[in-house]
Amino acid sequence: MAPTTVHIPVLLQEVIQWSGLDRSRTESRTVVDGTLGGGGHAWHLIQALQPHDFLIGIDRDAGAIERVTELFDRLLPPNAEPVSDPPTIQAESTRSTCRIRLIQSSYRELPSLMVDHAIPKADCILLDLGLSSDQLEDTSRGFSFRTGGTLDLRFCTDEGISAADLLAKIDEKELADIIYQFGEERFSRRIARAIVERRRHSPVRTAEELADLVHRCVPGGKIHGRIDSATRTFQALRIAVNNELEHLKTAIERLPDCLAPGGRLLIISFHSLEDRIVKHAMRECDRLQVLTKKPILPSDGETYENPRSRSAKLRVAERIV
Ligand SMILES: C[S@@+](CC[C@H](N)C(=O)[O-])C[C@H]1O[C@@H](n2cnc3c(N)ncnc32)[C@H](O)[C@@H]1O
Repeated sequence: MAPTTVHIPVLLQEVIQWSGLDRSRTESRTVVDGTLGGGGHAWHLIQALQPHDFLIGIDRDAGAIERVTELFDRLLPPNAEPVSDPPTIQAESTRSTCRIRLIQSSYRELPSLMVDHAIPKADCILLDLGLSSDQLEDTSRGFSFRTGGTLDLRFCTDEGISAADLLAKIDEKELADIIYQFGEERFSRRIARAIVERRRHSPVRTAEELADLVHRCVPGGKIHGRIDSATRTFQALRIAVNNELEHLKTAIERLPDCLAPGGRLLIISFHSLEDRIVKHAMRECDRLQVLTKKPILPSDGETYENPRSRSAKLRVAERIV
């Protein structure tokens, strides 16, 4: 794929294999990529679809929708109509590959999006949680702590409050709990105390300021093994400002209804809390049959090629009733 996105899709072969799209079907099929990101998984899923099939791509981040719209416009056959007329970020196209619709929203809104856009029940829904490498490369929103970008960390900047605003007012204990639970950071209390002390004279406003502060709080400084010691704190704040676990919990309750009988739900998680939510929800839902007793993990080759994949876990369930 041409490089307007730097994101490498994880567990790609496994996603295609478990999508169930190779099973013979005569009627048109609908695939929902609920976390479009750089469009990597979506692009490969499109290759498995026919002109009368549907691909729906959803992302909370308007930038992701714009990037993928531009990418698909460029890569899909020249006889295809453009995916969108920029600057619209909600787009539909009938093309010689399959019908594609890209929507800026949360995957948890899928039931109402299906009604609003007359989307048929899905044969496959994919969620690939977390953030994309494109977001990490974006210097303006603070995902990359090696830059001076504003510490925002929201996927959708119209929702909720930025991480900088959260740090300016949150109670110290609550902050320590967030860093501990969502970041699994042993030095959460120390980091929370340093943030609260610092804000008395100058609040943390940029990613770089937060990273420097964390480096000073964590024994051994900046690098812990192969990862930067600020990674866990940034992850925790990102999960908190985006309310990520709540979106996931609500979605898993709602998504079985969005599947056609025999349709598959594939979820890739990167965090133990997310994986626990997915594992229990899939097991407890009486409309789903779990197809992966144990999560599918990336191969050694994949983790070597793409270190970001190392904590990925794929779970798959099928709608039975
Ligand atoms: C790991 S990336 C997905 C990468 C994609 N599978 C690919 O191959 O390029 C995760 C994406 O999910 C988006 N996202 C996170 N939470 C979301 C939600 N609740 N609803 C929709 N998109 C979400 C992020 O903005 C990010 O672009």
